[in-house]
Amino acid sequence: MVPELLVTRAELLAEATRLLLEARLADARREAARIWSWLERRPASAMPLDDGVAVAPERVASFISAVRRRAAGEPLPHVTGWAGFRHLTLRSDARALIPRPETEGLVELLLARVRTGRVADIGTGTGCIALSLALEGGFEQITGIDLSPEALALARENRRETGARVALVRGDLCESLQAGSLDALVSNPPYLTTAEYRALDSSVRGWEPELALSGGPDGLEAIGRLLVDARRVLRPGAWLALEVDESRAGECAARAGISGYTEVAIHTDLFGRERYLLARRSDAE
Ligand SMILES: C[S@@+](CC[C@H](N)C(=O)[O-])C[C@H]1O[C@@H](n2cnc3c(N)ncnc32)[C@H](O)[C@@H]1O
Repeated sequence: MVPELLVTRAELLAEATRLLLEARLADARREAARIWSWLERRPASAMPLDDGVAVAPERVASFISAVRRRAAGEPLPHVTGWAGFRHLTLRSDARALIPRPETEGLVELLLARVRTGRVADIGTGTGCIALSLALEGGFEQITGIDLSPEALALARENRRETGARVALVRGDLCESLQAGSLDALVSNPPYLTTAEYRALDSSVRGWEPELALSGGPDGLEAIGRLLVDARRVLRPGAWLALEVDESRAGECAARAGISGYTEVAIHTDLFGRERYLLARRSDAE
């Protein structure tokens, strides 16, 4: 199709839907509408999409180019540059994991238990957890930590966009945190096994950082270290909230039980999968 020949929004959307359907995307029309609304910087609900309004040729060209990126397999948040998370709209690109709806539940569970004091988000990525805690809770101090300088740069952009008060620090898990300094520690760490990571669909593996996804041969490298480190940095009675893989949730809970935590519980996500481990640091030294 020659973009210049497209004259109305209705024709443009029909063409975009056709391109996305050809690429076997199930929700082609909705995705086409999302890309269009991003280009227009207006919510899809605020625009009629199938009217006879003429579209300027340069708008046609940028829209079709974005649709082609999506048709080639690039994730929608990378194409639009934005992802929704709880009440936030965050910048999202190849520098960090795209925030997932499951992770919204981790924030919910933590906020139901603790809303004040000092909290750290380990492996902050886009900053989605730390920024949500800053805007929804009443915490005194929030620290987002990541090993990846690229992810931290993105989190800083999101901090600027949202205006949230969060300290963003480069570091390896909890090593930069002081002993007994936290009232809560939250993390969505990399938790796939090396084999699971290699078997991931190219729509994920091709676009999101390996550091964000791969948790070593047994998928428990980061979680195992976190259980030990968190015990050092949490004050007695403070909360630990981790996102875990459903197939290893039981094993993570068992490890927490023998690593100095009480009230260890696994919670399910919005898809009914065992996804979250909540526990409190025991009083014992
Ligand atoms: C699954 S992603 C989670 C990102 C974000 N919190 C979210 O929920 O979308 C895991 C994050 O942990 C970071 N990470 C991996 N290993 C780390 C380590 N040893 N220390 C700190 N961060 C690490 C990755 O760079 C990545 O941003």
